[in-house]
Amino acid sequence: MIRDLVLANRSYRRFQQSHVIDMATLRELTELATLCPSSGNLQPLRYVLSCDADKNAKIFRHLAWAGYLKDWPGPTQGERPSAYVIVLGDSQACHSINCDHGIAAQTILLGAVEKGLGGCIVGSIQREGLRKALDIPERYQILLVVALGKPAEKIVLEPVTSESEIKYYRDDSGVHHVPKRSVDQVILGS
Ligand SMILES: Cc1cc2nc3c(=O)[nH]c(=O)nc-3n(C[C@H](O)[C@H](O)[C@H](O)COP(=O)(O)O)c2cc1C
Repeated sequence: MIRDLVLANRSYRRFQQSHVIDMATLRELTELATLCPSSGNLQPLRYVLSCDADKNAKIFRHLAWAGYLKDWPGPTQGERPSAYVIVLGDSQACHSINCDHGIAAQTILLGAVEKGLGGCIVGSIQREGLRKALDIPERYQILLVVALGKPAEKIVLEPVTSESEIKYYRDDSGVHHVPKRSVDQVILGS
């Protein structure tokens, strides 16, 4: 069921780092992204894949995690992602990329969840540092990073009871809570 897949597709930030995700799996997930809608069908997205420890480490140090969790600097060694898909925009294919990258990132994540994996879209990226670290040519805009792994955290959705309560939080037992607006709260005029 699509609802079950979307429900299971939470933003996971803690993983069993020792769980191997191989290049064939990353290619399979990226192939899903090539089937997605694209504005003007320009298909400007390009991808850099990583599942080896050295490259993963180079990527990880340029990412910021869970801005609302002020006391948590991000996943520690042992709970970091096993793989990454870096989503790039080719400036020679398209000047301004609409929302293709969001659709692609979500599709990659849904494919990962179907395989018992999970991940997180990361938009908070030290882009110039990452560009240098991986030698990504200027022609490619760094749009998003999709972090992937075997999730090692429990995430629970909560209702939003007031406008001030959209910030996710972690409780004393380490469970991550994510407030979500209900369908009645988001459909106007109902
Ligand atoms: C475009 C986009 C960028 C995001 N960037 C980050 C990020 O830089 N770091 C992070 O930890 N999470 C990031 N997230 C994950 C959101 O924080 C997450 O979707 C939100 O907290 C709701 O949780 P959920 O995905 O489990 O519903 C991003 C999500 C999206 C869609």
